[in-house]
Amino acid sequence: MKKTITDSTIDADVLTYTVGEDPVLDLALAKWDCMGTAAHVTMLSEMKGLKRPIVTKAEAAQVRKALARIVERAEKGKFAIRVDDQDVHMAVERLLTEELGDLGKKVHTGRSRNDQVAVDVRLHMKSEILQTEKEVCALAAELCSFGFDAGPIPLVGRTHLQPAMPSTVEMWATGHAEMIIDQLANFEAAYALADLNPLGSAAGYGVPLPLDRARTTKLLGFSRTLHNCFGASMARGECEASLLSALAQLMCVLSRLAEDLILFSMPEFGYFKLPRAYCTGSSIMPQKFNPDVLELVRGKTAQVIGWQTAALTLLHAMPGGYNRDLQDAKLLYMKGLETTRTTLRILAKVVAGLKVNADSCREAFTPGVFATDVALAKVAAGTPWRDAYHEVRDQFAALYEGKPAEVANLDPDRQVALKTHEGTCLGLDHDLYQRRISEAVQSADSRLDALDACCKRLLK
Ligand code: ARG
Repeated sequence: MKKTITDSTIDADVLTYTVGEDPVLDLALAKWDCMGTAAHVTMLSEMKGLKRPIVTKAEAAQVRKALARIVERAEKGKFAIRVDDQDVHMAVERLLTEELGDLGKKVHTGRSRNDQVAVDVRLHMKSEILQTEKEVCALAAELCSFGFDAGPIPLVGRTHLQPAMPSTVEMWATGHAEMIIDQLANFEAAYALADLNPLGSAAGYGVPLPLDRARTTKLLGFSRTLHNCFGASMARGECEASLLSALAQLMCVLSRLAEDLILFSMPEFGYFKLPRAYCTGSSIMPQKFNPDVLELVRGKTAQVIGWQTAALTLLHAMPGGYNRDLQDAKLLYMKGLETTRTTLRILAKVVAGLKVNADSCREAFTPGVFATDVALAKVAAGTPWRDAYHEVRDQFAALYEGKPAEVANLDPDRQVALKTHEGTCLGLDHDLYQRRISEAVQSADSRLDALDACCKRLLK
């Protein structure tokens, strides 16, 4: 039997089972837990309508200073959560009580760990989402600079993986970049949900104290308060699921980039060469330089989709109000974030070291790749589209039977240069990519600065 702050005695196995990975996972929440507590205590010290303040303004300042010291300890790796603390919340309360005595015992007045953990997770998520967005931008920027450098080097565009139409290396690279940048919209949706303050909902039903919830919303820099206390308690898990859905979808996009890179760097294609430092060898075949890192991007995509599914399964049919299984939503989104952020950083390195073999790219242009262009040239000379289509289709059938045709002489560079409308080979707007990336980075940076400023104001 063990003694904890909340339970006088608890079976040791039950404690281990219920605590789960919190003593490790919650370390990431230490700073945010202290920030939340600083805001709560500040609000308690300003609360109107009481005969006697629960804590005075001077006491609140004392608590904030002690919290700042805990954050410092956590940053130096000197903050530990014991199994009998159960989680970061009670570890912080234990330290405050050791240092401040009765004052430390007052900080949890009018609060539950239910709203406390919900606020910690939201602050942590806000910071993590913005950092992820910056890493998304960094990968997109690498793809753009790879594409801009390669410029109009012709690349066979494929549908069904079969040769289809003339394209360029730049269109391939910036096409992937654009898909990646567009994923920011899902992260912004997750951010908007995370940016709501549940603090003051307590266990999920409010408390008979005149809490000023708008005050902690302002102190913590949230966009607004989660108004209904019961609703606020049920929102736990929902923003985790929304973030996991953004992460899973982004990983799907990244796995497609990884797959193209695996294919195009195969000797049979030979369009790209992966940096040697990112390839792994074989224990038996001395010639091998394998794209393991890219295969693992596919594998990790499966994991993140799994965690997203686990989060939705956790929430489905869960009864209203707090339930302890919500604790696992924290594990799922933290794993999802870590895996996705590492993947973004690894892919940015791979793309930065990627080389193009322009000769292999040009040699891959079989006559069929020009078929549509040939038909369109006939249209320009007055043939109706469907007639032109059939003429070329017949001609190409002959070509595949080995009979040469004049179309075999078409030149990839010349055909690529004919494609100039918006978004095609020579119609790619470099400024558009650069503008979207720099605007997204600026927006993330200014919100990270605002969060940091709130944190510094509260913890000094
Ligand atoms: N570690 C817990 C969690 O993440 C904290 C909240 C505990 N609340 C409770 N009612 N047991 O959910």
